[in-house]
Amino acid sequence: MLKLGIIGTGNIAHQFIQAAQLAGGYLLSAIYSRRLETAIQFALPYGDVELYTELEAFVASDLDVIYLASPNSLHYQQALMILEAGKHLIVEKPAFSNPKEFAHIIEVAANNQVLVLEAARNYHEANFDIIIDFLKDKTIYGASFNFAQYSSRMENLLAGIYDNTFQGKMSGGALVDLGIYEIYAAYRLFGQPKTARYSADLLPTGVDVAGCGQLIYDDFQVSMIVRKNAQSSLANEIYTDQGTLILNHIQGLQSAQFRGLDGNTRTIPLKSLQHLMLEEAQVFETILSKPEEHQDLYTHLLTVAQQVNQTMTLMRQDANIQFEADL
Ligand SMILES: NC(=O)c1ccc[n+]([C@@H]2O[C@H](COP(=O)([O-])OP(=O)(O)OC[C@H]3O[C@@H](n4cnc5c(N)ncnc54)[C@H](OP(=O)(O)O)[C@@H]3O)[C@@H](O)[C@H]2O)c1
Repeated sequence: MLKLGIIGTGNIAHQFIQAAQLAGGYLLSAIYSRRLETAIQFALPYGDVELYTELEAFVASDLDVIYLASPNSLHYQQALMILEAGKHLIVEKPAFSNPKEFAHIIEVAANNQVLVLEAARNYHEANFDIIIDFLKDKTIYGASFNFAQYSSRMENLLAGIYDNTFQGKMSGGALVDLGIYEIYAAYRLFGQPKTARYSADLLPTGVDVAGCGQLIYDDFQVSMIVRKNAQSSLANEIYTDQGTLILNHIQGLQSAQFRGLDGNTRTIPLKSLQHLMLEEAQVFETILSKPEEHQDLYTHLLTVAQQVNQTMTLMRQDANIQFEADL
């Protein structure tokens, strides 16, 4: 069993614990919060768990892996502490603010013989394998991805209060929060793009609330819409020489329909999703429980995570989005 510690007491950490419990192979052992009261409240559903309010003591405790779900800009310093304490790291997306931070983290992880895994949940969805198989005899002409989700933090934003997710000093914004899923989906389906562009609606904090991007491949482009200030019901589409594949989403993939050039539509059967984070929790457990047997998979995930980080950084530069961590 992997003894699991948690940093970050937001809803997503509860989601990851549920997924880890469904996956099996993890034992929730310790929770860190800045405030004891928050840790006690967070731990209520989980029974016998150690609680910490000192990060040094938490990372030094008897843990195998720490799931890190604090605000984006804090990941780097907290990750350094975790890795230097000899613990494996599962870090929420976006793992690190820029390629410089990421490169240093990889060096520190290697020096301490521990692993770093970015929790980019949709990259692990098995339904992408079905889509890839379906597309293999078709020529890709392009794709249109759309992730517009009205943020629960919009009410504050409209009142002039910028929560972490809308702060440049917290490495926030729509691209790194939602756009990252579209970029990961594109990497999963089509590999690394040649280059990328982004133009954004910027907030006074210097980060984007919405934007449009392009991932440019040799023979086609993926257009991206990202939006935290509106809800959208636009489908996600992949265009081919034989027709259009229509997906319900590029994360939480649950339905796929192919409309052929003759106008006929057929459904591509997909697997049902038990929990949005289950597949990543399973993959991470497989790698962490026997790292020596899964070196290739680990190297692949780490390479893709670094490349996605590079693509996002390029897109941020294109849209004049600068984080404090870049300075
Ligand atoms: N995979 C997914 O589907 C998904 C979904 C949502 C979010 N995320 C990712 O998860 C991470 C956390 O997102 P979130 O929305 O939960 O963030 P958040 O609510 O802003 O913060 C998460 C936790 O971090 C601690 N924290 C907050 N502000 C802090 C500060 N200024 N200094 C130190 N600690 C602070 C708090 O825990 P304590 O008060 O207990 O210390 C808080 O509960 C982000 O990287 C985000 O991108 C992933």
